[in-house]
Amino acid sequence: MDYFQSLKDTVNSAILEYLPNAQIKPTKLHQAMHYSLLNGGKRVRALFVCICAKLFPQNVDPLPAAIAIELIHAYSLIHDDLPAMDDSPTRRGKPSCHVEFDEATAILAGDALLTEAFLVLSNAYKKNPPLALALIGELSLASGSRGMIAGQQEDIDNEGLAISKENLEFIHEHKTARLIQCAIKMGFLCGDYHHIDKHQIKLLGYHLGMAFQYQDDLLDVESNEEILGKPTQSDGQFDKLNAVKVYSVEEAKTRLNDFFQSAEILMDELEVDTTSLQTYVESLRQRKF
Ligand code: IPE
Ligand code: IPE
Ligand code: MG
Ligand code: MG
Ligand code: MG
Repeated sequence: MDYFQSLKDTVNSAILEYLPNAQIKPTKLHQAMHYSLLNGGKRVRALFVCICAKLFPQNVDPLPAAIAIELIHAYSLIHDDLPAMDDSPTRRGKPSCHVEFDEATAILAGDALLTEAFLVLSNAYKKNPPLALALIGELSLASGSRGMIAGQQEDIDNEGLAISKENLEFIHEHKTARLIQCAIKMGFLCGDYHHIDKHQIKLLGYHLGMAFQYQDDLLDVESNEEILGKPTQSDGQFDKLNAVKVYSVEEAKTRLNDFFQSAEILMDELEVDTTSLQTYVESLRQRKF
C-alpha cells in the first residue's frame, strides 16, 4: 500500500484512540464529535506533521501532534458549515454536523474538539515540557484570533463586498494558511530541527497553505459535489469570498502554481532531505478533491 495511505490509516486509528468514547455521557455530544472526525477527510494537516517529523532521525512520536491539529481542523469545519457562517448542508460527502445532529450540538461539538486538542498535546508530551509548550503555543497562535479565527471573521464580514487583493491575501493567509503552516512547524518541532532556518520553515508553510486555499477556491468553481463531498459553485452562488472574485480563473491558477513553485524551491533549499515531503506536495498539487 502507498506510504501516504498507510500514514493516513495510522492517523485515523489514532484519532479513535484519543477521542472520548462515543458512549460517554452526553452521548449525543460525543457521537457528534466522532461523526465529524471519522467521516473521511484528507488528513492533510496530520500528514504534514508526520512527514515533516520523519525527515529527522528523532524519537518523538508526532502522532498526538497530528491528531491535535486534525481536532482543531474538524472543529473549524463544523463551525464553518453552521447557518450563521457558510450555511453548508454537506461535508465530506455526508450531512454537515448541524444537519445530522442540531445546531446547538454542532456548536458544542466544535467547542469540545477545540479544547480536546490541547488536552491531547499536554498529556502526550508531558515528559518533554519544552516540546509540549512549543506545540501548544504554535497551535493556539495559529488557530486563535491572530490566526484562523481572524481569517474566518474577515471572510464573513467581507461576504458580498468587492474585496481588494490585500484583503483576500489576509483572509486566505489567516483562515487556511496559518494552520497548514502550523502543521509544518509542529512536524519540524517533533523532529527537533534545530539546524534548520526557522524563517525558511515559516515561508514554506505559508506558500503551501496559500496554495491549499487557492486550490479549494478553484475546486469550488470547477469541481462537483459528488467528487468534492461538499457543495460546489456555492461561493459564487452565495457571494462568498473566493479568489476568483478578485482574479480571473486563469490568474488564480497562475498564482496557485507560483505558490507551489516557491514551496518547491524552499524544499530544495532546506538542509535536510525533503524527498518524501516533495512527493506528498506533488500529490496534493494533483488533487481533485
Ligand atoms: C477544507 O479543508 C477547508 C479549508 C481550509 C480549505 P480540507 O480540504 O483539508 O478538508 P478535509 O479535511 O479534507 O475534509
Ligand atoms: C474555510 O474555508 C476555512 C476554515 C477555516 C474552515 P472555506 O469556507 O472555503 O472551506 P470549505 O470550502 O467550506 O471547506
Ligand atoms: Mg468559510
Ligand atoms: Mg465553507
Ligand atoms: Mg471553500
